[in-house]
Amino acid sequence: MPSSASPSTHRVTGSERVGPYTLLRLERGGLDPGNPGQFFMLEAPGRLLPRPFSLCLAPPGELAFLVDPIGPGTEALCGLGIGDEIAVLGPLGCGYRLDVDRPLLVGGGIGIAPLPYLAEKLGGSPPVVLGFRTEEHAEAAALLPGAEVAVDPVLVTELIGPGFDVMACGPEPMLHAVAALCPTAQLAWEAPMACGYGACYGCVVEIDAALKRLCLEGPVLDAHRLNGHVRYLVPAESAGAVSR
Ligand code: FES
Repeated sequence: MPSSASPSTHRVTGSERVGPYTLLRLERGGLDPGNPGQFFMLEAPGRLLPRPFSLCLAPPGELAFLVDPIGPGTEALCGLGIGDEIAVLGPLGCGYRLDVDRPLLVGGGIGIAPLPYLAEKLGGSPPVVLGFRTEEHAEAAALLPGAEVAVDPVLVTELIGPGFDVMACGPEPMLHAVAALCPTAQLAWEAPMACGYGACYGCVVEIDAALKRLCLEGPVLDAHRLNGHVRYLVPAESAGAVSR
C-alpha cells in the first residue's frame, strides 16, 4: 500500500536532456525515496491518468526520474519547466532486495532508470552492464560512470559473466534472456498501471502461475516467479489509455 493514499504536489526543479531521454527533477517535499526499484505515479499534464516511473536518483531534497518521450504522457512530462507543479504518489510496490553478495546491475534502454539509485544504495560502485539500441541512447550511460556498454547489434547479455547476483531492468525480451542465463536474477517488469496501488487491476499478469497485480507483487520479481511472457488482461486498445 502507498505510504499515503493521496498524491502530493511537487515543483519541478530541473529538466535535463540525457541522450534522447529527459531527467526530470522534482522537489522531494515529504516523500520518502523508498527502495530502489519501487516506483512513483507521476501526473502527466493534460492526461487523465498518471504514469509509473521508478526513481532514478535521490539527491538531497529532490527526486529525479528518467523519462523517455514515447507517448503523449511522457512527452508532456518532458515538456515541464522549472517551477511547474505535478502530483506525485509513492513510493509504491516492491523493489530490489539489497542483501546480495556479488551484485551485477544489468540495464537495457530506458530500463537503466532505477539503476543509478540502486547502485548508490548498494554502495561501493557495483559493476554495471548496459545495452542500448543506438549511440544516442547510449549517452544515458553517463548516469552510471564506469558501466560497460553494448550497442546494438551487441547484446547486453553478452556482457554478463558467471557468479553474479544479477539485478536487471529492461525490455521484456532482455529480461527473459537474463532469466535464462541467471535463474536467480531479480528482474523489474513493466505492465500498464493506472493506479499503482492495487485498485484498478490494469497490471494483472501471471506470477507464480496465478494472476496477480504486478504493482503489489513487483515490479521487481525473482526470475522464477514470472516464467511466461507478461500477459495483459486488458486488451491492447484499453492499455492504450495508460500508454506512455
Ligand atoms: Fe492498478 Fe496495479 S496499477 S492494480
